[in-house]
Amino acid sequence: MTDVEARPNVALEIDDLTTVFRSRHGVVRAVDGVSLEVRKGEMLGVVGESGSGKSMLCLSIMRLVPGPAGRIESGRVRLGGVDLLRLTEAEMRQYRGRRIAMILQDPLMSLNPVYSIGNQINESLRIVHPGAGAKERVQKAIELLRSVRIPEPKDRLKAFPHQLSGGMRQRVCAAIALSGPPELLLADEPTTALDVTTQAEFLRLLRDLRDDLGVSIVLVTHDLGIVAQNCDRVAVMYGGRIVEEAPVRRVYSGPRHPYTALLLRSVPSLETQTLGSRLIPVDGTPPDLSQLPSGCRFAPRCPLADARCHAEYPPITEIESDHHSACWKPGEVASLLEV
Ligand SMILES: Nc1ncnc2c1ncn2[C@@H]1O[C@H](COP(=O)(O)OP(=O)(O)OP(=O)(O)O)[C@@H](O)[C@H]1O
Ligand SMILES: [Mg+2]
Repeated sequence: MTDVEARPNVALEIDDLTTVFRSRHGVVRAVDGVSLEVRKGEMLGVVGESGSGKSMLCLSIMRLVPGPAGRIESGRVRLGGVDLLRLTEAEMRQYRGRRIAMILQDPLMSLNPVYSIGNQINESLRIVHPGAGAKERVQKAIELLRSVRIPEPKDRLKAFPHQLSGGMRQRVCAAIALSGPPELLLADEPTTALDVTTQAEFLRLLRDLRDDLGVSIVLVTHDLGIVAQNCDRVAVMYGGRIVEEAPVRRVYSGPRHPYTALLLRSVPSLETQTLGSRLIPVDGTPPDLSQLPSGCRFAPRCPLADARCHAEYPPITEIESDHHSACWKPGEVASLLEV
């Protein structure tokens, strides 16, 4: 069942996606009209400050937005030409884990403490490869652990999550996520809980998955160094929207949105971005997603803002080939980096 012809280089096409939360305080637009594409075999970084909608974007793609308060309101999320939002829940289960998988920040949240690693991988394989026999599943589980570089994989199958280090647990989550293997892997701050060495090893693993298996990866992170060193393109989120999207080198050498420029201002060159270059807080507070201004959401914090910025939201536009920005004054952004 293909709705439209899938574009050859595109793994996932998100079109005008909106996800809302209803609460006593009103309606929060956690993801607000996001359009984004993830290309085949690329690692796309998604950055933005806390509460900008990064996790909700991933959960919306997986159709795992926590209900009933949260709900995908509109849009399209096409994988290989099929709009996931139009599938029944039963059809969606055929995609989750098989064709799209997600790794979360805290591996302890994804692993069940009372079952062995082998048991949990086996469970996932049972769903993803229902035709496989018990022996075949054990063999496959060992292969998966080996593919995420867990030493002595056969012995590890008997281990319980608490018997493994944080880095090893995250590798187990990656092994489970890879049981499909998926075309698309959503990794939501997968290394935040890890120390720097383990973090670097895990990121290398992700790069290898991209390079060797051609898995398309969405990497959500707060760390601009991680983006610089691992990603091909980057999407910057602000207040539930994408404000800039471009190849990584382009964004670091010439950001075209003031928010990106301010994030980069203290470490503007790609070369000086090292692991641990966390987002530098930008002055001011993030927008209240339940009471959004009609103009640009960043305007109250933007040094370039004028009357038009406060009145009218700038639509995201391709300002030069493969470089998108939602700003009325992309040409003035460079001035923010001149000191
Ligand atoms: N369970 C919930 N109930 C109500 N609103 C929620 C809920 N979860 C998220 N939101 C709203 O959605 C917005 C986006 O949240 P999200 O978790 O996607 O942010 P994030 O960019 O992943 O932040 P962080 O960097 O802290 O992980 C939040 O600002 C919040 O207003
Ligand atoms: Mg998050």
